[in-house]
Amino acid sequence: MTHSKRTKTFTLGLKLATDPSWVNIAEMSIEDILVDHAYCEQKATSSTISLIVKFPEKEELVEQLTPIVAEEWHHFKLVMDELRKRGLRLGMRRADRYVKALQSIVKTGGTRDDQLLEKLLVGALIEARSCERFRLLWKYLDDQVLRDFYHEMMVAEAGHYKLYLRLANLYLPAEMVEYRWRELLAQEADIMNVLPPRHDRLH
Ligand SMILES: [Fe+2]
Ligand SMILES: [Fe+2]
Repeated sequence: MTHSKRTKTFTLGLKLATDPSWVNIAEMSIEDILVDHAYCEQKATSSTISLIVKFPEKEELVEQLTPIVAEEWHHFKLVMDELRKRGLRLGMRRADRYVKALQSIVKTGGTRDDQLLEKLLVGALIEARSCERFRLLWKYLDDQVLRDFYHEMMVAEAGHYKLYLRLANLYLPAEMVEYRWRELLAQEADIMNVLPPRHDRLH
């Protein structure tokens, strides 16, 4: 694979680390970053609700994910607060090339448990990548208020990442989870390799 030389072990298992210089271009278009972030939180809220209503028979999943819906929507509000403080507005929803690319590697069909595994692991991947980008914003932004804000986001999304993996292991055999997780990590690295970080997007 072309990215193999750049591959290194990174936080939360991700195989391809984002170049921290992305923050330099991101902070010059912080309005775009915040608007994109708001929609990421909206999508996280929507996809968590979808997961609950798709698998109502999984009691632990329903119990654990219900408060996450509120948390993701609270994140949306916090991003809106940051926009407002800066005299900025939400703006229109943007195309999400990262999530679109991830959807193309999701396996369709199979049993309900196969589908559950795909959804939980892709959820974990998105949380992990968001967390990785938030970490860079926390570490390298000049704006101290936003640094604190992104530290809070990083910690929360790391918790969600762990929860998705924990639920996958609760409902599916550990070897199956591990095998598919490794596959998805490799595929996600390939996606990141062809989707360089943009100044106006979180992913
Ligand atoms: Fe969130
Ligand atoms: Fe999250």
